[in-house]
Amino acid sequence: MQYIMSKEFKRYTITAALPYANGSKHIGHLAGAYLPADIYARYLRKNNKDVAFICGSDEHGAAITLQALEEKTTPKEIVDKYHNLLVRCFRELGISFDIYHRTTEPLHHETAQEFFLNLYNKGELVEEASLQFYDEVENIFLADRYIIGTCPKCANDKAYGDQCEKCGSTLSPDELINPVSKLSGKTPIKKETTLWYLPLDKHESWLKQWILEEHKEWKTNVYGQCKSWLDAGLNKRAVTRDLNWGISVPLPNAEGKVLYVWFDAPIGYISATKQWAKDQGKNWEDYWKKEDTRLIHFIGKDNIVFHCIIFPAMLKAHGEYILPDNVPSNEFMNLEGDKMSTSRHWSVEMHDYISQFPYKSDQLRYCLIANMPETKDSEFTWKDFQTKNNSELVAILGNLVNRVMVLLHKYYEGKVPDVKGCDELEKIIKESKEKVSQSLEQFRYREAMNEVMNIARHGNKLLTDKEPWKLFKTDPEATKAVLFDCVQLIANFAIICEPFLPFTSKKLWEQLGVQEQKYTWEDIGRQDLISSNHIVAPAVILFEKIEDEIIDIQIKKLQDSKINNAVVVETIPPIKETISYEDFEKIDVRTGIIREAKKVEKAEKLLELKIDIGLETRTIVSGIALYFKPEEIIGQQVSVLCNLAPRKLRGIESNGMILMASDASGKLYFVNSQEPLDGGCVVK
Ligand code: MF3
Ligand code: ZN
Repeated sequence: MQYIMSKEFKRYTITAALPYANGSKHIGHLAGAYLPADIYARYLRKNNKDVAFICGSDEHGAAITLQALEEKTTPKEIVDKYHNLLVRCFRELGISFDIYHRTTEPLHHETAQEFFLNLYNKGELVEEASLQFYDEVENIFLADRYIIGTCPKCANDKAYGDQCEKCGSTLSPDELINPVSKLSGKTPIKKETTLWYLPLDKHESWLKQWILEEHKEWKTNVYGQCKSWLDAGLNKRAVTRDLNWGISVPLPNAEGKVLYVWFDAPIGYISATKQWAKDQGKNWEDYWKKEDTRLIHFIGKDNIVFHCIIFPAMLKAHGEYILPDNVPSNEFMNLEGDKMSTSRHWSVEMHDYISQFPYKSDQLRYCLIANMPETKDSEFTWKDFQTKNNSELVAILGNLVNRVMVLLHKYYEGKVPDVKGCDELEKIIKESKEKVSQSLEQFRYREAMNEVMNIARHGNKLLTDKEPWKLFKTDPEATKAVLFDCVQLIANFAIICEPFLPFTSKKLWEQLGVQEQKYTWEDIGRQDLISSNHIVAPAVILFEKIEDEIIDIQIKKLQDSKINNAVVVETIPPIKETISYEDFEKIDVRTGIIREAKKVEKAEKLLELKIDIGLETRTIVSGIALYFKPEEIIGQQVSVLCNLAPRKLRGIESNGMILMASDASGKLYFVNSQEPLDGGCVVK
């Protein structure tokens, strides 16, 4: 059976949602858009297709200006910092973009302005004056994000004008109860301003036909969301904002106005393609304006309406562009039973993973693919990550490769035996290849990954059934045949796993002593990939087992960050009232060493400490139990306020207080000298 590509396309434009460059991104983003896009792009390349895999940083928008304000820096500094971080993370995780561009690039500004003018000149935009929220103290129109108030749906009193992060509802600032400006804290007024709109209502009927009739093959989660938008009826959407960060509206008398970030960002796909084509000596228009180009947008589910309805309406209004052939959006990935969220400190950030698990990108890729939230939300847990690594990558794949390499060296000095391969294996692998191709064509990655692993499982089965280590003594020819087959199987695996596990594929080729990139998807199934008498490299370990301790650390880290988050101290407290030198002289602070520590029963925050302060050892009860385990702080140096009046806490008399520094999140740190000191030194 031959897998069917829905239509013969000459080239592919594959895009992955441009991440906002206002923070690090977590592994849920990876599983949602970047990883599936990467697998697809790699798969196409292995099939010798002409591919442009496009992404970049989304660097405009009010979220970024707001953050700059909060962090007392500039938007440019923020986007520079996070753009660089994102570039590094994607590279380390093997996301093989052909270009990773930026929306602050002049080429993008020009492209977006041109696009806007094109629509404007054709009468595809509507100009309208309206009343918008305005901060009279700061003299500025307020972006939706700059207005906070009470959510009408869940009563969260910190909902933003565009969204309530607690219940996830999309809002407009008019819906907020008691709106206040985030800038001045005052109630904003309504003031008139002119905005330009994209009249989506005008596009409704062709959109209905195009999506609901002509794209029934889109994933059900995507199709369903589009249908409910279309059924509800479309309204005009503002494509400009009153803001000082972004792409200026290219019209006279439009000072202080910029393109709305969701208008310019998707055009970023086009400008990135332009830059890439220029660098490669290609024609960018082929990738955006030719009917035989297949355009596919990979996104997360919060981006569906923008990519399925608004951006296509923009492209159609422009008139020269092709429309996406598919928008395979994923759902969300939860983490250890809760919604993954960077701002709520419940996430695994890409850069954290990379630094804590260096050179283990495929291990993460594997686990994310196996749990990909394809049609419904899924879940990442550290235990599952450990199991996938230990019982699948190590036990199935690593074990297979290791056994085969060791036996080849043991029996034949690393030489591939001179025999003919078996036809049955060819058939099995070709069947797998068809299944993997079909699954990938339908964006069913879990299924595809499992089928790829079936090939390795089959290799292990060959070894277990034939037991070459026993056979070697009784039937040397049969032993050769088994190992020959296993080598071919591993080579086939190295090709087929490349889109999923690119680093492993590379290692397998090194292990086989064959140049990577030599083979394509076409070759999968062949039993002569590695020729007889070819010498393979000595066996190396492909995957290491991940021990319980490593996993426990990750789980604890996650829980700690949630605890810290629960006691967020939002501001630095002001300096207290002035005291006299005499007042200061009254306090007696000395160094101490913790000699004993234990939990106070039924008080989750308290530890009972025995502290050696030179003259004596004292009992002090301290509220540090959320941050420190008793056994970890024995021998720790601390600063002790020694002349505080004793008081009873949970029935234990506490004699003094240990001094701790507390950061903005409420996390505690010991205050002590750089050099180790004994107990009893006076601090003054
Ligand atoms: N920055 C947006 C987000 O993170 C995605 C933009 S996708 C694009 O949700 F199409 F606008 F580029
Ligand atoms: Zn809400």
